[in-house]
Amino acid sequence: MERYAHITGWGMAVPEKVLTNDDLARMVDTSDNWIRTRTGIRERRIAGPRDSTASLSVEAAQNALEVADIAPDDVDLIIVATSTPEHLMPATASLVQDALGATKAGGFDLLAACSGFVYALTVGAQVIRSGAMQNVLVIGAETLSRVVNWNDRGTCILFGDGAGAFLLQGSGVPGGVLSTLLRSDGSGASSLIIPAGGSRMPASFNTVREHLHAIQMDGKEVYRFATRVMAAATREVVQKAGLRLDDVRLIVPHQANRRIIESAARSLELPQEKFFMNLERYGNTSAASIPIACCEAVEQGRLRSNDHAVLIGFGAGLTWGAALVKWDVTVKPEVSRWNQLRRRAVYGLAKVRSSLRRGVRRVEGVIYGSDVPENGHKTPPRK
Ligand code: COA
Repeated sequence: MERYAHITGWGMAVPEKVLTNDDLARMVDTSDNWIRTRTGIRERRIAGPRDSTASLSVEAAQNALEVADIAPDDVDLIIVATSTPEHLMPATASLVQDALGATKAGGFDLLAACSGFVYALTVGAQVIRSGAMQNVLVIGAETLSRVVNWNDRGTCILFGDGAGAFLLQGSGVPGGVLSTLLRSDGSGASSLIIPAGGSRMPASFNTVREHLHAIQMDGKEVYRFATRVMAAATREVVQKAGLRLDDVRLIVPHQANRRIIESAARSLELPQEKFFMNLERYGNTSAASIPIACCEAVEQGRLRSNDHAVLIGFGAGLTWGAALVKWDVTVKPEVSRWNQLRRRAVYGLAKVRSSLRRGVRRVEGVIYGSDVPENGHKTPPRK
């Protein structure tokens, strides 16, 4: 029997701190008017000292599990799409798995920049459709404020922090993620890049001094690329699902720039109302923008049961991707009390289990010797 990957849970998390365009105008030579007219952005959320890509992911994932009404130990796989992982190694997904108490789940990070969520959704859906797994958590999460050069007015005005998550579940009933499309054009790699910190240019005094660990962007080139691919990818993914553009209730594009979205609407000859936009309040949250937008579209009644929607992402790589989904699961009128208790117990136990495991590792370290202390830094050799 053919299997389908349904979106049965969705959740989001954004930091509390709001940074307005007026706040930015006090930091760099810009104005609220310039930012609003060129991008449509009014404000964005910025991670506080206690927020990180993993902490936002965990909150978004918990909200998605609540909507799907399943417990974390029923999750088989966690994919975190991000360009701002907690560390270069280990994967943020492992930290999320530990914090959720998803004891039966594997996890990995996926980097496809602002297209990351659509890429992760594609992989998650295919793992389910193959019959290999039943419940997959797909998360898009970013703390871009940590990799922005706050002196560069060409980029720092655009980005914000946040996370969004979908819980995908397998079923024999047709629906869910119906078709996807993934593309990449690496010849445009340098147009949106964090040059240092990888194997090409490891961190050094110079890379830090020259801001090479921050986002660099050729705004005009990225703009041209985005307007070119959005309409074509939307048409293709709709066709692949055997549908017509008229069958699509809502298009949820990556929230980069209002003008890019308006240009796609013109190319597709569709009214602006078919495109969901919330970039005014969050800016560009990269891999998190599509799931956050979906959560708000559901909340506002713009995405309802049995609606067909196109999710479309584009960004560094250059990469782009689109998914045609049938939003065919409604929020359950009430969650099962038993499942709710189970979730709470698992979250509580996850902290205890994690501390116990760390304790056991410390004891083993004392007995057998250890080179790497808890904070992850290699102990300097003793003099
Ligand atoms: N405030 C005020 N002026 C600014 C500014 C800012 N934040 N940023 C740039 N400018 C200035 C430039 O210095 C330039 O001045 P000049 O004419 O004296 O040289 C002028 O505004 C025009 O700059 P330009 O780069 O041509 O602006 P633009 O119309 O291309 O808009 C972007 C810039 C970044 C808003 C636009 O290119 C864009 O949105 N690109 C896509 C970016 C994107 O979405 N990236 C993520 C994709 S996932």
